[in-house]
Amino acid sequence: MSQPKSIATLQKMKEQHQKIATITAYDASFAGLFDTVGIDAILIGDSLGMVVQGHSSTLPVTVDDMVYHTQAVARATSQTLILSDMPFMATTSLEVTLQNAARLMRAGAQMVKIEGGAWLCDTIQALVRRAVPVCVHMGLTPQSVHVFGGYKVQGRGDEQAQQQFIEQAQAVERAGAQLLVLECVPAKLAEQVTQAVQIPVIGIGAGNATDGQILVMHDALGITQGHIPKFAKNFLNEAPDIQSAIRLYIEQVQQGIFPGLEHTFN
Ligand code: KIV
Repeated sequence: MSQPKSIATLQKMKEQHQKIATITAYDASFAGLFDTVGIDAILIGDSLGMVVQGHSSTLPVTVDDMVYHTQAVARATSQTLILSDMPFMATTSLEVTLQNAARLMRAGAQMVKIEGGAWLCDTIQALVRRAVPVCVHMGLTPQSVHVFGGYKVQGRGDEQAQQQFIEQAQAVERAGAQLLVLECVPAKLAEQVTQAVQIPVIGIGAGNATDGQILVMHDALGITQGHIPKFAKNFLNEAPDIQSAIRLYIEQVQQGIFPGLEHTFN
């Protein structure tokens, strides 16, 4: 069996221009399946508040919830990198942040993801100094849905605003973040960010010039009800079973076929 994937694997993939395919999972069965078919990383996303718990946003998700689902995913995986979300209000002070991050790492996460931008630099430094690898989620950060007034594409401002967005990405990298997720930003801006930082950039609704992609597993398997995001694709439409659908997702990411223009904001 090959070496388990780590953040070093993803970093090397960026350097070698190999696309990174990642997905969310929340339980042992799906996580084990994704691990077996060769997904590069699994995120236990706080999207579980919507797709598992049935809430209308991610805000009700607690650290206890994240620990429970992280443990389930970690038990079933051996090959893939495991990231876990710090949920709403889990980073209110440095002490609270460190305690919550420690709970997620003890539950089996190998990296934590926090939503925000350059204002997180102190938090990132504190986590990294205490051996907690950090992924920063920028763009449409769902915990800020009420600040944005809905799930809206971000980074559509003028040139100066876009430059500031790129500088924020560079600032979190300097602070020690080792991975960036960009959600719902115009493809051109995502491409500029990907070129402006050395760390891997994973996109969702951010075009196909990023170093890799992530999808909520329910969007990749056509389980999502109601509003289907523009960036989603149901791979089960083109595959006979779930294993084949996820293999197809991985292949289409690796070949730069997914996301297509129809999944992209310009
Ligand atoms: O919570 C989540 O699933 C996420 C992904 C959409 C990136 O943050």
